[in-house]
Amino acid sequence: MSQQSHTPEHVDIQPRNREHEIADRLSRDWYGDHPFKTAWFNAMSITFPLGEKFFIDSVRHFANNIDDPKLKQEIRGFCGQENVHRREHERYNESLCSQRGYDLEYMENRLKKKLALTDKMYTPLERLSMTAALEHITAIMAEWALDPESSMAQEADPLMRELWDWHAVEEMEHKAVAFDVFRAVGGDEKMRKKALKRSTFFLLLDIFVHLVHMLKRNGQLWNLKIWWQGMGFLFGKQGILRLIYPMWKEYYQDGFHPWDRDTQEQLHRWEAAQASS
Ligand SMILES: [Fe+2]
Ligand SMILES: [Fe+2]
Repeated sequence: MSQQSHTPEHVDIQPRNREHEIADRLSRDWYGDHPFKTAWFNAMSITFPLGEKFFIDSVRHFANNIDDPKLKQEIRGFCGQENVHRREHERYNESLCSQRGYDLEYMENRLKKKLALTDKMYTPLERLSMTAALEHITAIMAEWALDPESSMAQEADPLMRELWDWHAVEEMEHKAVAFDVFRAVGGDEKMRKKALKRSTFFLLLDIFVHLVHMLKRNGQLWNLKIWWQGMGFLFGKQGILRLIYPMWKEYYQDGFHPWDRDTQEQLHRWEAAQASS
């Protein structure tokens, strides 16, 4: 029996069943008191419950084709973690939208239609390649978020940061699960690389549509100053998208594996901070 998992031995992929009481924080601009920055992360949160269901389904589809017991166990851990994330982001999204007057049904129906189309248009292996690609994006976002220099660490409300950091840590722990399953069931380099561009485009498009909806409902859609500052937040010197771009690009290297970036140190730092708090 061959070894199919390439997650380091000491990384344990287990769900932490956390509940986050964040309702009162969601009623205001919790990220740097800024409408664009707050809406960017809120917009991302809207994509999670349905997106993570797509991830779980696409990995589970191949679970019986895996014979490495370590990877089998990691698939269970991966599904468990994503399920708790879904639950917490469902609560997040419902509370956010009801308090701030956003139309959750409109945003989710759009996503549902798109995911139904994806099911029709792509093979299970292609859907798994998209999941692996999106997991790469969440893993590099996690790496950014857990950096003490990031604007998440510096500007986000501490209670909100707790939720995003918890999610980031688990994304980092399971970052190679979909990837290893993809390789184990015969996914090739060409399909793997092709999936990244497609997945990035659709994820950014979804976030953008949700962001526009939120700013519109806030009555801030045409506030150019907010947009100008928002562009700096994404593309400026310390901009998120600019900072994660070099990591994003690594996915195109031949033979790339998510654990080529050994991020165990960040996991240990978070665990140590949890233990002392
Ligand atoms: Fe997740
Ligand atoms: Fe994930």
